[in-house]
Amino acid sequence: MSRPKIRLEQVTVRYVNGAGTRWMRRDGAEHGERIILSDIDLEIHAGEFVSFLGHSGCGKSTLLKIIAGFLKPDGGSVWIDDERVEGPQSSHVFIFQEGALFPWLTIIDNVSLALRAVRNQGERLSKAREYLELVALEGVEHHYPYMLSGGMRQRAEIARALAAQPDVLLMDEPFSGLDQLTRLNLREELLYLHVMLPSTTILFVTHDIDESLQLSNRLVILGEPPAQVKCCRTIRIPHPRTLTTPELGELRSLIHHHLGVHSSL
Ligand SMILES: Nc1ncnc2c1ncn2[C@@H]1O[C@H](COP(=O)(O)OP(=O)(O)O)[C@@H](O)[C@H]1O
Ligand SMILES: [Mg+2]
Repeated sequence: MSRPKIRLEQVTVRYVNGAGTRWMRRDGAEHGERIILSDIDLEIHAGEFVSFLGHSGCGKSTLLKIIAGFLKPDGGSVWIDDERVEGPQSSHVFIFQEGALFPWLTIIDNVSLALRAVRNQGERLSKAREYLELVALEGVEHHYPYMLSGGMRQRAEIARALAAQPDVLLMDEPFSGLDQLTRLNLREELLYLHVMLPSTTILFVTHDIDESLQLSNRLVILGEPPAQVKCCRTIRIPHPRTLTTPELGELRSLIHHHLGVHSSL
């Protein structure tokens, strides 16, 4: 098998809860510290779409930030293309839950920012327009973010991320603030984009189990802190997927089991 795109080796993260004298506890943490992630080992291949699931507070965002290079692990290391991650890189783009468009720039100018390397302004704008078309946002390029709905803003965010031609796209609950119908539409679009850009590796944190079943090639479920990978499953079912098939039903039950959900919903 080819070399993994992303490799996590015994990644451990501790957060300090407050000031005070520190002494060691039996689990190896110091008093006042909490181990959030504990010795996480994981390999992800180029072009995979990996969904991360787990209870609130288990460390999903922390894990993504470590991979993006925003945070340094307290133990272990992260490798992308066999290079140790020491900080953020322009080819690794993060899409936040709360959105991060610049409110003082129009939509096309927001997307153009990611195309700074294109010197010719006309060319830059026409490329930005192409990315807006890709996420079905033609016609609103001269609007400011506040003039768009939440779903459209999130699409613009995705267009800007894609314009940067990332080889790793990290998405932290990107659709969580949106209504169900918009989420379903964006889910479809993300799937379409992944087909269009097969070499882009996507890491996707979600609370929505069906979203993860519909989109991903792999599910990673984290346990409670100190979190380790509780379950890692490859999904080989081709797209488009029907969520009511027995195969996906079984996977859904497995996720419920690992998350401690006992209802038959
Ligand atoms: N900067 C920080 N300092 C201290 N504790 C933090 C910090 N960031 C997150 N935490 C704590 O670490 C745990 C994991 O957080 P997070 O990665 O955001 O979880 P998730 O994304 O799975 O909900 C939570 O208990 C959270 O309160
Ligand atoms: Mg989070």
